[in-house]
Amino acid sequence: MRRKDVLDLDDFSAEELTEVLDSAVSMKEVLARPIKRVPPLRGKTIVNCFYEASTRTRVSFELAAKNLSADVVNITASGSSVEKGETLVDTARTLQALGADMVIIRHPHSGAPYLVARELDACVINAGDGWHAHPTQGLLDLFTVREKLGSLDGKKIVIVGDVLHSRVARSDIWGFTTLGAQVVLCGPPTLMPPGIETAIAEGLRRKGGNGGNGATKEHAAVRVQYDLDKAVEDADVVMALRIQKERQDAGLFPSLREYSRLYCLTRARIARAKFGALVMHPGPMNEGIEIAPDVAYGVQSVIEEQVTNGVAVRMALMYLLAGGRSDLAV
Ligand code: CP
Repeated sequence: MRRKDVLDLDDFSAEELTEVLDSAVSMKEVLARPIKRVPPLRGKTIVNCFYEASTRTRVSFELAAKNLSADVVNITASGSSVEKGETLVDTARTLQALGADMVIIRHPHSGAPYLVARELDACVINAGDGWHAHPTQGLLDLFTVREKLGSLDGKKIVIVGDVLHSRVARSDIWGFTTLGAQVVLCGPPTLMPPGIETAIAEGLRRKGGNGGNGATKEHAAVRVQYDLDKAVEDADVVMALRIQKERQDAGLFPSLREYSRLYCLTRARIARAKFGALVMHPGPMNEGIEIAPDVAYGVQSVIEEQVTNGVAVRMALMYLLAGGRSDLAV
């Protein structure tokens, strides 16, 4: 992998995405072994900086690093020198001086990982920054769909909910469309980023087309559809996003009951998608608001597999950033 940092998926080619996904297949094989530990990152120090709450991402990065035999240090805002007013740049310089080889950062402010990456010689992986991006969630979502459906090419993927504030949606859109899927975004107009179809189309054109690296598929990579019943028709994948309840106080939708009536993934709605369509959610879920419990835990749900796959995908990414190759056994 010829990059120092992973800050979003907007600059990943189809080949790079495929390299990570192929490598994650090998990592998943490692995770099925009785002893899950392999040596590629022995002697390396990985620092997990989580300045915002997390369960899935933080734990899976820690497990991934330990499975690769790295030494792992965890930092949270509380208890670190951030409480004494240390700036993010000073923290980055301190980590550099302490010999960090890789820094994983989650931060409430969009762009914070870019600032850290500029300061550090070490690799930086964005574990979620504000509303902006969550590239490793995007990669594990790609991996889960590819593992279940064989390929992303030509698949219809519906993402429903608060797209405007969702870093997961933004990274997923780049990943899915670069690998040739069509994404349909659904949600209240107040929670939809204006002009998103055009922005993605222009970004893909700059990268060389939908499908990445010179592929020239002409179908619109992203469409917006406000009616969920229509959006899910013939979908291969339906993904619900977490609704952030504080958005109601900001007047962005009238009530949770109204939101749920129009945008909750129910059995009746999922029945309109393709037979056997995958149901996804990045977590944490508000059951009964954006997703009905019988859908979240039903036979079509791959939500727990998304979490499990997060470890393999993060192992693959760290291994490749440290100079590993996807065609070599670990
Ligand atoms: N999907 C996700 O980022 O979950 P956490 O906030 O628990 O890490």
